[in-house]
Formats: sequence, C-alpha cells, structure tokens
Amino acid sequence: MAQLWGGRFTKETDRKVFEFNASLSFDKRLLECDIRGSKAHVNMLMACGIITEDEAELIISGLDGIYSDVTSGKLEIDPGQEDIHSFVEAVLIDRIGDAGKKMHTGRSRNDQVALDMRLYTRDDIEAAKEALTGLLKEILEVIEKNRDTVMPGFTHLQKAQPVTLAHHFAAYFEMFKRDHGRLCDIYERMNYCPLGAGALAGTTFPLDRDMVARQLGFAAPTANSMDSVSDRDYLIEYLSALSIIMMHLSRFCEEIIIWNSNEYRFVSIDDAYATGSSIMPQKKNPDIAELTRGKCGRVYGDLMALLTTMKGLPLAYNKDMQEDKESAFDAMDTVRNCLELFTGMISTMTFNTDVMRQSAAKGFTNATDAADYLVGKGVPFRDAHGIIGKVVLYCDQNSKSIEDCTLSELQSISGYFDEDIYDAISMEACVDNRLTKGGPAPAAMDAYIKEAKEWLRR
Ligand code: ARG
Repeated sequence: MAQLWGGRFTKETDRKVFEFNASLSFDKRLLECDIRGSKAHVNMLMACGIITEDEAELIISGLDGIYSDVTSGKLEIDPGQEDIHSFVEAVLIDRIGDAGKKMHTGRSRNDQVALDMRLYTRDDIEAAKEALTGLLKEILEVIEKNRDTVMPGFTHLQKAQPVTLAHHFAAYFEMFKRDHGRLCDIYERMNYCPLGAGALAGTTFPLDRDMVARQLGFAAPTANSMDSVSDRDYLIEYLSALSIIMMHLSRFCEEIIIWNSNEYRFVSIDDAYATGSSIMPQKKNPDIAELTRGKCGRVYGDLMALLTTMKGLPLAYNKDMQEDKESAFDAMDTVRNCLELFTGMISTMTFNTDVMRQSAAKGFTNATDAADYLVGKGVPFRDAHGIIGKVVLYCDQNSKSIEDCTLSELQSISGYFDEDIYDAISMEACVDNRLTKGGPAPAAMDAYIKEAKEWLRR
C-alpha cells in the first residue's frame, strides 16, 4: 500500500510497523468531523483564491459522497490506510483525480487531527450535558415527590439525624449540577480552531483562519501554531470532568446498592434493571449499579493514561499523541452509557417510604433535637448533650427509644423535661424545624425546588 507520504521512501513499510503505527481502527469514528473540517478548509481555500471554484465544488461533493457511501455501507473503510485522514484523501483522489490532490494545501495532519478531535470532543461535551440534564430532571422528579418522605441521614454509615428523601437526592442534584457547569467551562475554554497551524509553524499560503473558525462554530482561531498542534489540555480537562461524574455516579450507586440490600430495603430496583443468579433462584442483583460503580476505575484509568502520555512531550506534535484517542473515546462512551442507564434505573426504582420512615424513627436520630429542646429550656448545649447522652444510655439498656420513655423516666435524668418533649422530638418536628437554608425542612426544600426548576429551565 502506497503511503501518502511515500515520496522519499525506497522500501515498503514493514507489515508489523504499519499495524503498530496505524490508528484507523479507532480513529475511523472521526470520519464525520474529518469531512466537516475538510469542507470548511476547502471553502476557505477557494475564498482565498488558492483553489478554483470548480475544484472546491468537486472536492466538496466528493467528500459528501464519501461520507454518505461510508454511512450507507456502500464504501468500506479500507484497513490498508494508516488513519482516517489518509483514507478520506486517498478515496477522494481516486474518485475525482487531480482536484482531490489540492485538498491538503496549507494543511498538515497535525492540525487536521487537532481539529477533528476538538470537533468530536465538542459534540461529545454537548451530548454529555444532555445526558446529565436528563439525569438531573429525573432526580428533581424524585425530589418533588418526596418533600415529606422522612428517612435517616447517615454519617459514618451510622444513623445521624432525620432528613427527607428529597433532601438526600438534592445533594446529588448539586453534584451533577456542578458537573454540568464544569462541562460548560471546558467547552468555552477549548472552543478555538487549530486549523491553519499546519505541521507546527503555520503556512506560507494566505489562509483565512477566522473564516474557518467561523464556519465551524469556534469562537476564534487558536493563538499559537505550535500550541495548536500539541495541546491536548482540553481532553485532559474533559476526562477529569468525566472522572468526577463517574465518582459521583459511583457514590450514588453505592448508596443504591446499600438501600436495595435485604437489610435496608429502602428501595427496590425494577426487574428491568436487575439481574438474577445462575444458581440461587431467589436472587435479584443490582448489577447495573455495581457495574457503574466499577466502571469509575476505568475512566480514572483513561485520564491517567492520557496525563502520562502527555507528560514530558517536547513541542510540537509527537506520535505519542495518537494515543489520546482510545482513552478519550473509552471515557466518553463509558460515561454516556453509565449516565443513561443510571437515569433509567432511578426512574424505574420503587422507594419504600414506609421502611425509610421506620428506620429514621429507630437509632436515636432525634437525640440532637432532644438536646436542642433542653437548650430551649435554658440548659447550656454542652450540658444538654450530656443529659441526652444519659437518656440514650438508659434507653439502650432498656431497649426503647427516647419517645418511649415516660415523662417521669425522663425527669429522673433531668428536671428540665416537660410534656412538650414528645412533640419536639417527633420525626416530623425534627425535619420541619431544620429550616436553615439548604436544610431538609419541606419549607426549605420548596425554595430549593423552585431554584432547581429555574436552573433546569435555563
Ligand atoms: N493518526 C495521527 C494521530 O492521531 C494523525 C496525525 C499524524 N501526524 C504525523 N505527523 N504523523 O495523531
């Protein structure tokens, strides 16, 4: 197979070298971006008088033909080509002859691949934002339906204070909202067009880089040609943001796995999102949540691989950078898959709200409220803490909750207790009184929901 750079070579490339060097098997997914970029380049070459109108028309319809023939299956991507850029150019020249040989004027595969990756990443960021928004909508739906669903809040995985399911889910709403913000930031920072950087030092042709940038929806051309071909920061940033999304998903999955366990039974994963066991007939396993939790490691790995590939690379382009693709594509695919499946799992899950409430009522989740009650009676907080500690010890020894104690039992520990203690430490009171901004009280959550809806509308 003749290489597009074969002029100065006197020997065929060794077979194994060719295979080791080739990227077509994984960069073929850049086909659409490659053609989009080439069309913009060719339009500009024509506008700048570097090629004729007829040549430009031939090239552009040739490129459109290649794209539609590949997508319809009429044209197979030839594994004998080194990469997607060489494939497109070879087919173009084969189909339209000499005009096709002018497409690469003023361009290098170095700025071409830099452009293709940016176009692909930009599209993927948009798709990831959409997937995140889908998840956020689903989370908000659970929040709206469960303003009053009392459940135990945990610290150290020990029951701590009562919250609501809405409040717990709102924590994840915040996390995924930040993820969305990160994606927007990255998009804005990366949205500059590298085409026109050439191999590294620009070109002698009078290219209109602004025109190419405008055609492709970039804010402007990149500012330094060497940086343009050797920058993969935006991919590293994107993989970092994707890693954080996976970290959030894995935490959420871990909670769902715990909540779905036989011991907790806070939720039941829908049959369509669970799997069985080949030996134990009774089993219904949360595999989707577990796999999502597990795939977090894989996305971190993709980030580490890319960071390590880029470490110590001298300017400008080096072939090492071809290694960006498999990691980046793997992370992009994995995160989108996980986001979509996770959203489906949440939207079909049953919340066993009675179980949650019963669980909140056990385990002294109202102990802080009991201490706060004593503070209301004039006891300094540290003393109140000590008194309730004694009450909890007494209850523990007698297998009862604070509210199960008679008033005289409580008064034998502190004279500050009165009849109104029972209302003060009911689950509802514990939640309703936590009115601090950002707190779980339904009234505070109403304000939160209003803001969350506004955010989603924007
Ligand atoms: N397949 C290459 C890559 O992905 C395209 C750029 C090739 N440039 C070069 N100078 N060999 O990086």
